[in-house]
Amino acid sequence: MPATVVVGLQWGDEGKGKTTDLLAASVSLVVRYQGGDNAGHTVVIGDEVFKLHLVPSGVLHPHITPVIGNGVVVNPKTLLTEMAMLAERGIDPSRIRVSRAAHVIMPYHVALDGAAEARLASDGLGTTRRGIGPTYADRSARLGIRMGDLLEPEALRQRLARILPERNAILVDAYGQPAFVLDDLVAEAASWGERLRPHIVDTTTLVQDALERGEHVLLEGAQGTLLDLDHGTYPYVTSSNPIAGGACTGGGIGPLQVDQVIGVMKAYSTRVGTGPFPTELDDVTGRHLLEKGHEFGTTTGRQRRCGWFDAAPLRMAVAINSVSSIMVNKLDILSGLPEIRLCTGYAVDGAPVRWPVPLTELERATPIYRTFPGWDADLTDVRRMVDLPAEAAAYVDALEELAGVPITLVSVGPERTQTIVRTGRVQPTGRRSTEHALDLRVAPAIG
Ligand code: IMP
Repeated sequence: MPATVVVGLQWGDEGKGKTTDLLAASVSLVVRYQGGDNAGHTVVIGDEVFKLHLVPSGVLHPHITPVIGNGVVVNPKTLLTEMAMLAERGIDPSRIRVSRAAHVIMPYHVALDGAAEARLASDGLGTTRRGIGPTYADRSARLGIRMGDLLEPEALRQRLARILPERNAILVDAYGQPAFVLDDLVAEAASWGERLRPHIVDTTTLVQDALERGEHVLLEGAQGTLLDLDHGTYPYVTSSNPIAGGACTGGGIGPLQVDQVIGVMKAYSTRVGTGPFPTELDDVTGRHLLEKGHEFGTTTGRQRRCGWFDAAPLRMAVAINSVSSIMVNKLDILSGLPEIRLCTGYAVDGAPVRWPVPLTELERATPIYRTFPGWDADLTDVRRMVDLPAEAAAYVDALEELAGVPITLVSVGPERTQTIVRTGRVQPTGRRSTEHALDLRVAPAIG
């Protein structure tokens, strides 16, 4: 019963959608296990561009059941909008399943997130203002509304009648924002429930039944390891656990049911929002990465901060995710740079430090770099490692050595075919490799 977790090893936006797409042919279920509509991926099919925030990218493959797991926080408005957009463009959304235990992002969560960020201004976290933090906070405080609650309006009314006065008090008194009206909220939530009723199920049973039948389940993480609530650069993190362990709690799967974990990273680093970023480049190289790499957020349109690849947290990221193999994306973006730097660790006050580094130290950490010669050749048509410029191959080898697990896939462009498969790499766990399951036919491409 193979289950594969796809997890980001950096600050999100590593291109996890492309990994999912490569494996889609062998997969029957794609399960999102955390986050909400703060995530985003752009999917290109021929001339068509799809922008998805909540629905797993597997929806574009007719044989896949896309599942929104219990660990996800769901804004029903976003979900209904994405479903309508898909239907309009000829993609059947009826297969989408949402966990009845997934928490609902209510309108007051979005208002609270926005108000808190606005008040903190430049001292804020730079959240996506989608209500993610307040919804997870209410989940932990046991004051949340779950998708299943939307199906029982009377019980929902009673629950909201208990919760709403406190939320309204914060909005009105602390932030000077308008209050929400109970009747309006209940009516809106009940209408979401009616429209989503066929999709709201117990997704843990769905996942477990599929595994029992021997089907391949893919668990798709959003954001990345360095934005993990526990293991990231707290407090500049998201409010969920993007790490592979989150796939168990948020996807309804046991640790030993996970067959392999594919860690996804870009050939350089990006970060959206505030928080320490030791390898950030505020110069011509940073602009090269931003512009050539199209590093603009899918959800907010914000420019991503760009910098050299930061391998200081890499070993820890590989360990805590039990990464069995790695996909490196966007190697082609580095073409044209005279030299390439790779951060192998940090010094704080002149002394080397080991990840994890306390926030105050991270803020003044100096990267320790290894410098590699660059290359000019366009890589987008390369399909074999031997055809890469020697400099690019040496850079991939260095990344692999620092990670301590094989890099089995190297992406040189957004299309599915623009992928180098490094065959015969031995995984540390001796686990089955994904090579046999890869689908390298043309389009769709997911970035
Ligand atoms: P939140 O998840 O909206 O609460 O935002 C918390 C932090 O995570 C902010 O710095 C966001 O920019 C960042 N973040 C959230 N989702 C993503 C993502 O999908 N990619 C990159 N950064 C993200």
